[in-house]
Amino acid sequence: MKIALGFDHAGIKRKKLITDYLTENGFEYVDFGTYSEESCNYAEFGEKAAEAVKSGECDKGILVCGTGIGMSIVANKVPTIRCAHCTDVFSAKATRAHNDANMLAMGERITDEETMKEIVDAFLHTEFEGGRHLARIAKISEVENKYLK
Ligand code: RB5
Repeated sequence: MKIALGFDHAGIKRKKLITDYLTENGFEYVDFGTYSEESCNYAEFGEKAAEAVKSGECDKGILVCGTGIGMSIVANKVPTIRCAHCTDVFSAKATRAHNDANMLAMGERITDEETMKEIVDAFLHTEFEGGRHLARIAKISEVENKYLK
């Protein structure tokens, strides 16, 4: 599985934690930046990673900024993206099982390193349950398509 990564200057300190986790656990990744601690706009890197998930270049995406909120907002503007902002392991599992989320956003200023690793692990190892959740996901796409017209 290939993971699209996006960070801003307020999230970049967690890049190594996440890339080490991915490598150790057999995931490939593409790093869409940012590449330094210089102040930047999270929207640029969130969009690039989301576009890679939308196009199929990557299977899932992980975004980190100061809060994770700006990253999740921009990713969710890209059609087909269901980006979940998570601060706990339960939400990370639930958003995969129920929402079939294809991107995860987290905040370096909110979530400690160990919890972040556990959230990533839960997100990448939980399958979508399907069943009754399929119709709910379909409704999300319906709403998205309505406003794309
Ligand atoms: C950067 O200061 C900060 O606003 C950004 O990382 C993020 O938290 C936005 O949602």
